[in-house]
Amino acid sequence: MRVGIIGGTGDIGEGIAMRLSSAHFVSIGSREEEKAVYTSECCFAAVTKMGLACSVSGCTNQAAVDRSDVVILAIPFRHIEPTLASLTGLEKKIVVSPINPMEKRDFFVYTPPPEGSAALLVKKLLPPGTRVCSAFNTVAANKWRVFSEELDLAVPVCGDDPMAKGVVLDLVRSIPGVKGYDAGPLAASFMVECLTPLLLNIARFNKMKDVGIQFR
Ligand SMILES: NC(=O)c1ccc[n+]([C@@H]2O[C@H](COP(=O)([O-])OP(=O)(O)OC[C@H]3O[C@@H](n4cnc5c(N)ncnc54)[C@H](OP(=O)(O)O)[C@@H]3O)[C@@H](O)[C@H]2O)c1
Repeated sequence: MRVGIIGGTGDIGEGIAMRLSSAHFVSIGSREEEKAVYTSECCFAAVTKMGLACSVSGCTNQAAVDRSDVVILAIPFRHIEPTLASLTGLEKKIVVSPINPMEKRDFFVYTPPPEGSAALLVKKLLPPGTRVCSAFNTVAANKWRVFSEELDLAVPVCGDDPMAKGVVLDLVRSIPGVKGYDAGPLAASFMVECLTPLLLNIARFNKMKDVGIQFR
């Protein structure tokens, strides 16, 4: 699969690139091409050091869209609107949101937009018919980036288009040690997004690291 990662230079973007680039063609996007090229070189070095194949390149965010079938929006919630306005052609792609709107107050709090979730805001801002899914919301970036630990992760995927959701589930399940679960329509995405502040609160108040979820 050809996967583009918008904001792929950040924590979650680079982590997901490291896990996907052994089996897929990954384009790490950035507002600055040089930054993306540097991140892609770091990703290549880390993945090949593990003896794994790696297909990754760095480019602008727009080039990452143009080169890909699936586009992951690995950007902070507050940058959704200007970023989507700066990109063209997303209506022809499967767009994946790992975005969790939240704030750190005395504890972490889920702060969804009036649309109900980050995923529904993404859907509203894109042309009608754009296939939007949410995925990768509940896995801490460190889990993707640390190769020394075997993964044992659950990734819920929400979406309205069965074909697009199937493609995203296949993408998720192509990562060894990761189980993908159909978590319902895009309207259910708020239930997945709000798990992250819960996980961060559990980590903080119980002195734990990179807390995740499993379905058993
Ligand atoms: N970090 C985690 O553990 C984690 C886990 C699950 C889900 N998530 C979600 O994944 C998303 C990304 O998280 P992150 O921790 O990877 O974020 P991050 O490292 O803070 O930022 C990701 C990228 O966003 C781009 N960016 C920064 N400011 C921008 C702006 N003004 N306009 C457009 N792009 C901008 C930057 O790329 P360039 O400067 O290269 O353009 C940056 O590398 C968030 O929505 C978060 O809720 C994060």
